[in-house]
Amino acid sequence: MPEPLADPGPVPLERAAGVGVDVVGVTAFAAQLGEPGTRFARVFTPGERRTARGGGRSASREAQSLAARWAAKEAVLKAWSSTRYGAPEVIDPAAVDLRQIEVVTDAWGRPAVRLHGAIADALQDHEVLLSLSHDPDADVAIAFVVLQEA
Ligand SMILES: CC(C)(COP(=O)(O)OP(=O)(O)OC[C@H]1O[C@@H](n2cnc3c(N)ncnc32)[C@H](O)[C@@H]1OP(=O)(O)O)[C@@H](O)C(=O)NCCC(=O)NCCS
Repeated sequence: MPEPLADPGPVPLERAAGVGVDVVGVTAFAAQLGEPGTRFARVFTPGERRTARGGGRSASREAQSLAARWAAKEAVLKAWSSTRYGAPEVIDPAAVDLRQIEVVTDAWGRPAVRLHGAIADALQDHEVLLSLSHDPDADVAIAFVVLQEA
């Protein structure tokens, strides 16, 4: 057994309150995205659409980014719900406006979550950590979320 460090410093994620992960099949997602009247048409903010389009990205690259953002929204809901383990949901998941869970990106392409409206109010004492990935060969996009107490 290695000796424990004398001063381990801050414990990573010691304020973690919940986790969520979601995997999306990109081709199936993109097919539904293109169909008028599906809920996918209404869940992305203009900023998310702009980021996904990038500077002249291909349609398939854009679909990967949007699929990852869809996964992020679902993963945030899962992380939030995981904090309620054993108790009823506080908001009907079907009634959630998913534009209130917005994926923003810094100048270097790192994603983060900005909450708005009722969800921001409900999670005002929490911060959201996010990581995204997508793989065109595997045809999947994935999001991993940690919700921690602020
Ligand atoms: C970030 C990085 C790992 C992306 O790898 P990849 O296999 O091409 O991409 P993945 O499909 O796994 O993930 C793509 C997503 O990663 C996220 N991302 C991009 N840059 C990132 C970064 N620097 N940090 C964290 N996440 C990043 C984005 O959300 C992106 O999806 P999007 O363009 O649709 O928003 C790669 O660009 C890299 O290694 N950059 C260098 C970062 C580094 O080492 N910095 C030094 C320490 S600060």
